[in-house]
Amino acid sequence: MTRYSKIIGTGSALPPDCVSNAELVRRLAERGIETSDEWIVERTGIRQRYLADPNTASSHLATQAARAALEAAGRQAADVDLIIVATSTPDYVFPSTACLVQKALGNAGGAAFDVQAVCSGFVYAMATADAMIRTGMASRALVIGAEVFSRILDWTDRGTCVLFGDGAGAVLLEASDEPGVLASRLHADGRYEGILRTPGHVCGGAVIGSPMLTMDGQAVFKLAVSVLDEVGREVLAAAQLPIEQLDWLIPHQANVRILQATARRMGLDPAKVVVTVDQHANTSAASVPLALDLAVRDGRVRPGQHVLLEGVGGGFAWGAVLVRMSGVH
Ligand code: UT7
Repeated sequence: MTRYSKIIGTGSALPPDCVSNAELVRRLAERGIETSDEWIVERTGIRQRYLADPNTASSHLATQAARAALEAAGRQAADVDLIIVATSTPDYVFPSTACLVQKALGNAGGAAFDVQAVCSGFVYAMATADAMIRTGMASRALVIGAEVFSRILDWTDRGTCVLFGDGAGAVLLEASDEPGVLASRLHADGRYEGILRTPGHVCGGAVIGSPMLTMDGQAVFKLAVSVLDEVGREVLAAAQLPIEQLDWLIPHQANVRILQATARRMGLDPAKVVVTVDQHANTSAASVPLALDLAVRDGRVRPGQHVLLEGVGGGFAWGAVLVRMSGVH
């Protein structure tokens, strides 16, 4: 019998401080930085973001999201034998955030590691967990995207600091004799590493280089639209699923104009795109599982439906995972 993996639960977590554009404009004005609700909404579609306080780390948000996914699936932490956390804002240099989540959940003995593929991290982690389950290396995996991007934002750079937020999303994947994950494809092109990066490191107790995010927004925008279309088509072809049978597209949530352009290029009804960038802003590796959990819990994404998850971002890295949803919740 062929072994597959399927999603049996989803969960998410957001820090309590919800900062509207108006409030952000006020906070930035105090630092002498000028921006406006109109500019942010018109250029990005973002209306608010959630920001973590200094005591909240990625592992805290990840653990909360993981608990929600376990509860939705009716499983215990002890049932899990693989934890993958996708993050570019880990708690520490090491140990991995996944090991911290494992400890917080009271789970031990299975594999736990982080994936660093920036805004594509969650689809990279999903594809990895699916492969490990299909080959028998794991049976039940928590796949989590968790970020506190607010920590690496330069709050004097209005071109980037208005774009990001903090949060986490999780899915519980379980071995199954029916799919589940239908197809996955991952790609990267390191020649573009310079257009989106946080080029700092720790050495001798000091940060060398810059610990702040820098981005060439227009270069990222153009590349994102073209690769999201390409990889979406590639995964649908691999699963032999006609686009008419796709129920939902959940791409990385960076900019509503990227989401609209991707739907247009793929020939997909824009009403089939789950949009959460207005509520969460760009939460990097957390954006796709946060959007998936929201759409599952509000009843849009239902059992039996086909959902295409797409990630794109720094590296430059991108990828897509096509899933048929099973009965969650
Ligand atoms: O998660 C990884 C994926 N990330 C992305 O996908 C981001 C992709 N890029 C984008 O979403 C867009 O390029 C941005 C939203 C970042 C920028 O939008 P844009 O339409 O490309 O604007 P721009 O960078 O060309 O800037 C246009 C103008 C500039 O003023 P001038 O030079 O035309 O006078 C900027 O200085 O907008 C100005 N500007 C702002 N004005 C008010 C830039 N940021 C702001 C701001 N408030 N926050």
